[in-house]
Amino acid sequence: TPLSQIRNFSIVAHIDHGKSTLADRLIQLTNTVAERDMKAQLLDAMDIERERGITIKANTVRIDYTAKDGLHYVLNLIDTPGHVDFAYEVSRSMRAVEGSLLVVDATQGVEAQTLANVYTAIDADHEIVPVLNKIDLPAAEPDRVKEQIEDVIGIEAHDAIEISAKTGLGIPDVLEAIVTRLPSPEGGDPDAPLKAMLVDSWYDPYLGVVVLIRVMDGTIRKGDQIKMMQTGAKYGVDKLGVFRPAMEDVKSLGPGEIGFFTGSIKQVRDTKVGDTITTEKKGCEDPLPGFKPSVPVVFCGLFPVDSSEFEDLRDAIEKLALNDASFSYEMETSAALGFGFRCGFLGLLHLEVIRDRIEREYGIELITTAPSVVYHVYMKAKDGADLELIELHNPADMPDPSKVDHIEEPRIKATILVPDEYLGDVLKLCQDRRGIQLDLTYAGPRAMVVYDLPLNEVVFDFYDRLKSVTKGYASFDYQMEGYREDNLVKMQVLVNDEPVDALSMMVHRDRAEQRGRAMCEKLKDLIPRHMFKIPIQAAIGGKVIARETLSALRKDVTAKCYGGDATRKKKLLEKQKAGKKKMRQFGKVDIPQEAFISALKMD
Ligand code: GTP
Repeated sequence: TPLSQIRNFSIVAHIDHGKSTLADRLIQLTNTVAERDMKAQLLDAMDIERERGITIKANTVRIDYTAKDGLHYVLNLIDTPGHVDFAYEVSRSMRAVEGSLLVVDATQGVEAQTLANVYTAIDADHEIVPVLNKIDLPAAEPDRVKEQIEDVIGIEAHDAIEISAKTGLGIPDVLEAIVTRLPSPEGGDPDAPLKAMLVDSWYDPYLGVVVLIRVMDGTIRKGDQIKMMQTGAKYGVDKLGVFRPAMEDVKSLGPGEIGFFTGSIKQVRDTKVGDTITTEKKGCEDPLPGFKPSVPVVFCGLFPVDSSEFEDLRDAIEKLALNDASFSYEMETSAALGFGFRCGFLGLLHLEVIRDRIEREYGIELITTAPSVVYHVYMKAKDGADLELIELHNPADMPDPSKVDHIEEPRIKATILVPDEYLGDVLKLCQDRRGIQLDLTYAGPRAMVVYDLPLNEVVFDFYDRLKSVTKGYASFDYQMEGYREDNLVKMQVLVNDEPVDALSMMVHRDRAEQRGRAMCEKLKDLIPRHMFKIPIQAAIGGKVIARETLSALRKDVTAKCYGGDATRKKKLLEKQKAGKKKMRQFGKVDIPQEAFISALKMD
């Protein structure tokens, strides 16, 4: 296929605005898949994605299309992940294509992820075709949304295509627009040394690791010996092909083309998104610019509820890690929770997905400790030497504060779109989380606020709080902004005078008392009464800043509740046994599993 008849594009949209439905329609209308094989949301492969309605791994499909000009075109759609945690993957896959369809739900308008994703597309120099979806709905307001796209995003929208991905209305216009309004790939030379971008990779049980690539220059052929320029790893190309969306073998892929190869690559970890692929001999000199490996930003401990399941957990984590290069782990022991793993994630959603998969696919019940960000702890130096930097992933490892010069924390720039009536609550929430307001503008009846926030104030329950104070009407997105010094301390929690390391956390000094008090009150409600009095304290260093006391259970109370009916007594005992499993014995005190999570929520 000549370059002039190739179009590579992605679809950018806020969650639920209809990206997958539109992709399905494009595939269907071009007869890419036989009718009987067509199932809704073809591109969302994994169950969990389907259930949560989020697309996590990029996917791709090659569509043949005969346009009104009579020519045959090859359209390559790359489906990019829609969530902020995967921002780096999105930005790389955008660099593999030349244009984007910007899908906006005509009943909703522009949302936070619309903005984040469209700006990534603009950064990648994309030509953008706005598409207004769901115009079959009575609530659709295409004219208002066009105006909003122009005001807020600043791109031309009067010629936006009005469609219903559900009924199929307007889909032929989208196909024509892809051909007429998006550019073809710029002239790569098929005879030049191979230069291809590693767009994505995943594990296939039959084929091993499948690598999605975009060829920039040169030609890749079956049987080639290739080299990954960042990792230096070398492989033979066993299978080369394209997705329709089922795999179809091809002999070669030339400039502008998108396809996959396999080559006895054992683990996804060996493939880095954004890496440059060339041939081992006569390869290209310079890799593609801008490569950076994705690094975990949120860490938490994962422990099995039932400590005998530790080996099963190890097995599950190792298997998941093979297939997810951006997830890190190391063994951790906790006095309260026993053996487990300290794991690193790209963000909260990533954490939730991994945790869910362990519970669901491997049947292991987990205790998750408070998510923590990575702090930069600078140690005091002797005689003018440079300060030593320690990256703190776990508050339990915090060095002796008297030896610490200062601590820096990661900050984010958060963009929130919210209907006017909830604005006050959102501002209050951001203020409570130590936010600094950077901007406040209006886009129609919605306000757009931009805040500088500490990431650690967002990782735990910010999304949940935001959703609840705005009844689900706010949308949220963020990007990392770098590190800044603040007055941060480690707060410990002592139950029955013993520190519970899993409840340690880093807090701002000014918030410590308030947080400590809230935590002790919560724990008092969550820990069942024992036969003795239990002090619950929050402390910074040796100084107690909050205290509650759980009073002792009186003997006659137990007698009363277990007295009488024998079957009732048995039932109670069984319940108690089941409950016990979910408890962690700590010293002489049983702490229920949910205490570790609930105590850390701030409401
Ligand atoms: P993510 O994969 O979560 O990013 O969502 P998405 O943007 O792919 O949205 P999806 O295609 O899953 O559509 C979201 C919901 O909107 C689904 O329930 C669709 O059936 C519905 N939907 C999509 N397009 C239309 C449309 O044109 N009209 C109507 N009425 N509903 C639509």
